[in-house]
Amino acid sequence: MSKTAIVEIDGKRYEFPVVEGSENEEAIDINKLRDLTGVITLDPGYKNSGSCTSKITFLDGELGILRYRGYSIEDLADKADFLEVSFLLIFGELPTAVQLKQFEDDIRKHTLVNEEMKNIIDGFPRTAHPMGVLAALTSALTAFNPKSVNVDNEKEMYHAVCKTMGKFLVIATWTYRKSMGYPLNYYDNTKGYVENFMKLMFEIPTGPYKASPIVIDALNKLFILHADHEQNCSTSTVRMVGSSHAGLFASISAGVSALWGPLHGGANQAVLEMLEEIHNNGGDTDKYMAKAKDKNDPFRLMGFGHRVYKNFDPRAKIIKKAADEVLETLGVDDPILAIAKKLEALALEDEYFKSRSLYPNVDFYSGIIYRALGIPTDMFTVMFAIGRLPGWIAQWKEMRENKEPIGRPRQIYTGSPLRDFKTVDKR
Ligand code: CMC
Repeated sequence: MSKTAIVEIDGKRYEFPVVEGSENEEAIDINKLRDLTGVITLDPGYKNSGSCTSKITFLDGELGILRYRGYSIEDLADKADFLEVSFLLIFGELPTAVQLKQFEDDIRKHTLVNEEMKNIIDGFPRTAHPMGVLAALTSALTAFNPKSVNVDNEKEMYHAVCKTMGKFLVIATWTYRKSMGYPLNYYDNTKGYVENFMKLMFEIPTGPYKASPIVIDALNKLFILHADHEQNCSTSTVRMVGSSHAGLFASISAGVSALWGPLHGGANQAVLEMLEEIHNNGGDTDKYMAKAKDKNDPFRLMGFGHRVYKNFDPRAKIIKKAADEVLETLGVDDPILAIAKKLEALALEDEYFKSRSLYPNVDFYSGIIYRALGIPTDMFTVMFAIGRLPGWIAQWKEMRENKEPIGRPRQIYTGSPLRDFKTVDKR
């Protein structure tokens, strides 16, 4: 027999169905709650509210499990390629060799960005934060690709997916080129997607450039680890904006803005800045631990804690190992890594952190790898965005295919009751 939940209001009982997911997660379906009872639920920050059902990503915060379409993150990070994982997330199955080749070829058809986009980037000061420039450029893609805005069928959807995958990578690297005053670079269709990222970023006209395979491998892993994370802040934003039938580029642009904040994707930049600050102030980790625990001090240990993971973040485990490997292979001896390890060890033994289930998250070690690869600090969140792109696309596509209604939460009004208006001379 299927489960139900009973709600009692003013002595009246109402019954609601309990929905069960494929991993036995349960939710009370309150779709009819307001119609039947006149009341709504209140859940700031949506700590207890599911906004949709989804077949894309499963995570269990208590057990530290993360899977894309049923495949473990450990397997994917170890054995797969970023575009393979992108295909999996977006289309639901791992591609065959033929499908993967086709997908790569189709993305290549869209790697040239309209030259007029350069006029937009020209208008920004060189000091502009790359995430702000990226959000603006992503939104501007709408104007240059109007056919990819309102996708109605599978063919148009596929086209829009390839276009977004191709152009977003290029404009993401342009934000860095702009900040450096370098000429904007072009994608090279004879090279792979991740290799192109390095070329787009670092190749300059005065000499040849070849990215190290170690670096490409590490980036491939990092992009996969960031590729989706179910209904987080930026992904929910992408789905919410898309639910009004705004186009894919506009929705992704909103996702970029949501990701930018230091409590979300912006944490990777904040972590590195924090580690540098500790290092520059003599490396006193105890002092910063005390600050993090002091309720009168706004300082938080960046890269610690997670809304969903309450045991460990499986991505952090993989990244920590990768950081060790990359630094060793590249021969980098970074004092920042030693500080990170000391902070982690202190926090894991600390009652404040233990009792609140605060563990290192994906952002704690990723910045150390980016730094070793020569990626500047204010590009870290752009790296997260490049990795998260297939997840945003997959979630947007699923939302459209499920014909989800426009996202429109309610509220409980706590403001003033009706008041008489007084003209300004009488106030
Ligand atoms: N340092 C010190 N105390 C913390 C921290 C931290 N990093 N994170 C949470 N707390 C404390 C918080 O003060 C609160 O204490 P109390 O119960 O005494 O009031 C308790 O832990 C619960 O915190 P919360 O803010 O209610 O938890 P949340 O689920 O709303 O927030 C979070 C999750 C990730 C926003 C938060 O842990 C945080 O701000 N962490 C630092 C920023 C960060 O690393 N963000 C990256 C998240 S992973 C990448 C991504 O997917 O976006």
